Amino acid sequence: MLPGEFNIVLDRDSEEPIYRQLIRFIRSQVDSGVMPAGTRLPASRDLAHQLDISRISVVNAYAELRAEGYLSAHAGRGTFVAGERTPPPEMNGHNGRHNHHPAELPVTPDRSIREMMRLARKPGVINFSTGAPPIEFFPVQHLRDAINTILDRDSGRALSYEVAEGYGPLRASVRDYVSALGIRCSAEQVMITGGTQQAIDLVVQAICCEGDLLVSESPTYLGLIDIARTRRLNIQGVPMDEDGIRLDILENLILESRPRLIYSMPTFQNPTGGVMSLHRRRQLLNLASEYGVPILEDGVYHEFRFQGEALPPLKALDESGIVIHASGFTKNLLPGMRIGYVIANNHHHERLVRVKQAADISTPGLNQRAIHLLLERGVLAQQLERNNRELRRRRDAALDAAARCLPSGARWSEPQGGYYLWVELPRSGPTAAELYIAAIQTGVAYAIGSVFFPNGGGGHQLRINFGAQKPADIEEGFRRLGHAWRELTRDYADIEKTPLM
Ligand SMILES: Cc1ncc(COP(=O)(O)O)c(C=O)c1O
Repeated sequence: MLPGEFNIVLDRDSEEPIYRQLIRFIRSQVDSGVMPAGTRLPASRDLAHQLDISRISVVNAYAELRAEGYLSAHAGRGTFVAGERTPPPEMNGHNGRHNHHPAELPVTPDRSIREMMRLARKPGVINFSTGAPPIEFFPVQHLRDAINTILDRDSGRALSYEVAEGYGPLRASVRDYVSALGIRCSAEQVMITGGTQQAIDLVVQAICCEGDLLVSESPTYLGLIDIARTRRLNIQGVPMDEDGIRLDILENLILESRPRLIYSMPTFQNPTGGVMSLHRRRQLLNLASEYGVPILEDGVYHEFRFQGEALPPLKALDESGIVIHASGFTKNLLPGMRIGYVIANNHHHERLVRVKQAADISTPGLNQRAIHLLLERGVLAQQLERNNRELRRRRDAALDAAARCLPSGARWSEPQGGYYLWVELPRSGPTAAELYIAAIQTGVAYAIGSVFFPNGGGGHQLRINFGAQKPADIEEGFRRLGHAWRELTRDYADIEKTPLM
C-alpha cells in the first residue's frame, strides 16, 4: 500500500487511546474497500515512525485486527488485509432463521482463537492457554497393554463398525462409574460419543433448532460457544455469583425468551474454576423443572477435586429426568482416544442415537474397548488419585507465583479442583488482549478471557491452565507475565508522557 493511504488524523487529546483510533481507521478503510484484501500494511516500526506514535500502539492495533479477522500475518512477509472476513454483525442474523449461505456462518471468535493458539505454540513459550491435560499424565503403557490384549482377544471385531449407542460393555462400565458419583441410570441410557465435545453437540442437535435460544453461564466453555454458532443458535450468557449461575436473571430470561436448553458446568467451571453450591444446584433443578427447560450438565472436570467437599452432579439430584449429563474419559485418561458419553432419559436417548448415527455412524470400536479395559483394570482410579495430588501441587505453585508476580490490583480465583486460575487484571491498565502480544514476546501464553463470554465482556480477564505445566515452569511463566505487564505499562506511560504532535 502507499504510505499516503494512511492519512489518518489522530486526536491526541481524545480519551480514546491511539491504538483504538488506529483500529477504527483501518477497519473503515477495509470495510469501505479502500484497503482491499491482500493489501500489505507497513511494518509496525515504520507506521509508528510515520504517525509519530509508540510502536506498541501499532502492535496492539494489528493484533486486535488480526484477532477480529481483518488482518492476517504471514511469518517473514508482513501483515496483510485478510482475504475472507467474518461478516459484520447485521449479516450474522440475530435470529438465526435467516437464509444463511455457508460462507456467512457466524464464526466470530474462531480466528482470534486460532491466532492466539498459533502464537502460543511458538518454541520456548510457556503455554498456559490450552484446556488440555499434561501429556506426562497419560497412561501410555497401560494403553499399549490394553490394545495388545484387545487385538489378541477380539481381532477384526475390534476394528469393524460399532453400534451407534456404543460398545455394550463400555456402556455398562459407564453406568457403574457414574453410580459412584450418585447418578442412577441403566446401561441403556448411556450413549458413547466422540469425546464430551461431540456429546454436547449431539444434545444441541437433538433438542434445538436453528435460531433457538441456548442459555449458559457467562463466561462459559468456548467449545459450547463454537457449537452454538456453527449450529446457528442464539446464545445468551447468564452471570454467576459465588454460588453459581444467577437464578433471578435466568428466570427472567426463561419468561421472556423461552430458551430450549440450559448448559451448565456446576463443578470446576471452565474458565472460572467455580463450584455451584448445593443449594443453588437444587434451586436450578427446581427452576428448570418448573418451566420444563432441559439442562445439559457438563461434568468433564467433576472428579478433579484436590480440596473441599465433593458435591453431587446435577444428574444425581435430578428426580424428573430434566438433566442430560455429558462427560468423558478425555481429561482424566486420554484426550486423543476421543471417548465421551451422554446419559439421558429414554425420550432424549432415542433422538440422540439417531443424531449420532447421522453424525458418524459410531465411535471407533478399538478406542471404546481400550477405555473399557482401562476402567476394568482400575487405571482411572489410580490416575485420578495421582493426578489430583499433582494438580494440587501445581495449583499451589500458581497461587504462590501469582501473589509474587501479578500486578497490584489484580485478583484471581483459588480453585479447589480442575486446571484453571481465573485472573482479573487491574481495570485501569491494558486489557488481556493488549497484554497478550507482550506476553508472547516474553515467552508466556494464556487464554484471553473475552473469548469465553458469549455476549461480550471479560476484557480484563484471562485464564491460566496451571495443570498443563510443571511447578518450575509455572513459576517462570508467571515471572514472564509480570515482566510483560511491566514492559507494557511502561510503554503506556511513555505514550502519555511523550508530547505528540
Ligand atoms: C468444559 C469442557 N467440556 C468439554 C470439553 C471437551 O472435552 P472432550 O475432549 O471430552 O471432547 C472441554 C475441553 O476442554 C471442556 O473444557
